[in-house]
Amino acid sequence: MKVIVASDHGGYNLKTAIVSHLKEKGIDVEDAGPNSTESVDYPDYAKPVATAVQNGEYDRGILVCGTGIGMNIAANKYKGIRAALVHDTFSAHATREHNNSNILNMGERVIGTGLALDIVDIWLNTEFEGGRHERRIEKIEG
Ligand code: RB5
Repeated sequence: MKVIVASDHGGYNLKTAIVSHLKEKGIDVEDAGPNSTESVDYPDYAKPVATAVQNGEYDRGILVCGTGIGMNIAANKYKGIRAALVHDTFSAHATREHNNSNILNMGERVIGTGLALDIVDIWLNTEFEGGRHERRIEKIEG
């Protein structure tokens, strides 16, 4: 599985921890920036991740900002992207099983690193259930 990860300044530290965590697990991960905590605009970092998942270059994306909300709103503007804002482990597996989410959003100012890394592991390792959920996703795509 190929994963692309980005943040803004508000999510930089958690994004860096996620990239290290995935590398330690041997997962093919791309760090799409930024490279410091200098202030940046989250839509500029949501775009390359959303388009890379949209065009199939990467299987999944992870976007982190202060709350996760700005990145979530931005990512969901891209057709074919199902971005999920997740801050608990139940939602981490439920959104994969039911929504087939392809981008995970979290807020560095909302949760601790330990919980965030557990959420990442669960989200990456949970399969979509298909069936009735497939029909519902087709209705979203229009
Ligand atoms: C940046 O201060 C903050 O607004 C951003 O990281 C994010 O929380 C936006 O939704």
